[in-house]
Amino acid sequence: MSTRSLICAALLFASTAPAAAFAADAAAIKDILQKNNCLACHAVASPVVGPSYRDVAKKYKGDAGAPDKLFAKVRNGGTGVWGQVAMPPNPGISDDDLKTVITWILAGAPDH
Ligand code: HEC
Repeated sequence: MSTRSLICAALLFASTAPAAAFAADAAAIKDILQKNNCLACHAVASPVVGPSYRDVAKKYKGDAGAPDKLFAKVRNGGTGVWGQVAMPPNPGISDDDLKTVITWILAGAPDH
């Protein structure tokens, strides 16, 4: 078994049912991220200008208020949680797409 499949197995094992459902939609998620320019500042597994989506997932694990908090934060922008660099507001992403992305991030940002 390759390291990659071991990692995948571990991710699958750790993920909840919704995460498994999102795993099937990795291409759709990537499309949303690309279309809305999120990838200019974020990557799944390593920090760029902003935190990696996996780090965001870890930080808010078990936080029931996280979906609403992150929805407002991405929509309106802000600073001070990960450092002094600000995220600009993102007015262009639709509510549905933003909810989809946040649910995917909080599910651990699985790639497949
Ligand atoms: C110009 C760069 C930039 C763009 C574009 C950008 N972000 Fe961010 N993002 C940041 C920075 C910087 C932070 C850290 C803000 C902080 O420390 O409070 C951040 C933080 C976040 C967080 C964590 C927020 C928190 O308070 O913990 C999420 C989730 C996020 N971004 C998602 C997105 C999504 C989804 C998009 C696309 C719609 C996006 N970002 C576009 C720079 C960006």
